[in-house]
Amino acid sequence: MTTTSLIDRAISVLRSNDTGIFTKPGPHQYPHQWNWDSALIALGLSHFDLARAQLEIRALLSGQWQDGMLPHVVYHHVPSDYFPPAGFWQIEGSPHAPGVPTSGITQPPLLATVISRMNSRTPMPDFINEVYPALLRWHRWLHTARVVDRSSLVCILHPWESGTDDSPRWLNILATIQPELLPEFQRGDTKYVPATERPHRAEYERFIYLIDIFRKLRYVPNDLLTHSPFLVQDILFNAILFRADEDLRALAVSVGQPTDEIDDWLGRIRLNFNARFWNDELGLYYDYDVRSGEPIRVNTAATFLPLFAGLPSRRQAQRLVEEHLLNPDEYAPGGDVRHWVTTTAKAEPAWEPRRYWRGPVWIIMNWFLIEGLHRYGYDDLAEIIRQDTLDLIEAGGFREYYDAHDGSGCGSAGFSWSAALTLELSRESQNTGNRWLGND
Ligand code: DGY
Repeated sequence: MTTTSLIDRAISVLRSNDTGIFTKPGPHQYPHQWNWDSALIALGLSHFDLARAQLEIRALLSGQWQDGMLPHVVYHHVPSDYFPPAGFWQIEGSPHAPGVPTSGITQPPLLATVISRMNSRTPMPDFINEVYPALLRWHRWLHTARVVDRSSLVCILHPWESGTDDSPRWLNILATIQPELLPEFQRGDTKYVPATERPHRAEYERFIYLIDIFRKLRYVPNDLLTHSPFLVQDILFNAILFRADEDLRALAVSVGQPTDEIDDWLGRIRLNFNARFWNDELGLYYDYDVRSGEPIRVNTAATFLPLFAGLPSRRQAQRLVEEHLLNPDEYAPGGDVRHWVTTTAKAEPAWEPRRYWRGPVWIIMNWFLIEGLHRYGYDDLAEIIRQDTLDLIEAGGFREYYDAHDGSGCGSAGFSWSAALTLELSRESQNTGNRWLGND
């Protein structure tokens, strides 16, 4: 099969998941509009239909709450068998967008980065002028409603906000949460995907229990910060936000908007990121559990996200690559593992090669890594991982995630962001312009 036909197949996945209003992340498993999926889907669409990509973004922004929060799911009144349904969130009484059913939590802020990339390829000043105020309000909400300490790093309140829902990073915290009076519910996520590839019951119950706490608090940001038993400064979320702030700044400049507020956010994260997350003994980044005041000592591919944001020094980048990425006991292929890159280090006891975010290969994580490696000049390694990623998709199809042993597909089939990122990764000239500019 040639690359051209892979591209054609990627386009047809995006077309077939298109509802006309938004593009479903997966045809059965994910029938509504998810926040960070939608950003990547727009990036994919922009390769062949820029107007449709812009509609995708408008549809996502239609769910923005009046206080600036951009929800992790916008339901768009589309009937489905998805659990939790729109009504489960009970967002009435919170500052949601009138008439648009949404969830009550957010997701990693990739949108400004995607829009900035689209704009750098095809300048679209009218569209930037249209969406810039909404992007700015979302970032402002993150930098205010989700900050609890002088570090200014942003907190997440639910594993679903991390985008890496059942990552082993969250296991210890979830284990300390004892659900009393769990609301009645029936899982829907094991209907189309085998239960062995989805979260374990104990974690899933806590996901639902957290929603129950939040809906009782009416999603009032200060009350959530005070009472949520899950309160984490996540490396991945903060790295993506830093990169997105940089990209938001570029958008501001392109349409003549002031940048002081964004510069302030950038300065604060740059000042505190390494102090809070970097473990110099081990040469990797650990998330921070705000409730216990302790780092979360679990080694997952989230440790590489700072490369995507240009936050590590050159020495830190070298340690991440040489001590971890290239280590076959952790991330590099070796033994019976043939593919880059498992989302949990293989040496972690919680690594499960086929279960959701417990360890399979995810195309989005490979994409972040490829971008980050280019940023630090590891072009050859980035190219090896890019080629392996495209080979994985060629052999296994556009799946949600893949077993790193043999590349067999897991989770949803016809997965939109795997198709969207195929289009991005197939571009001949990769993004080598965005070099790291800091000091060692
Ligand atoms: C799910 O239902 O598993 C979703 O990932 C939540 O966002």
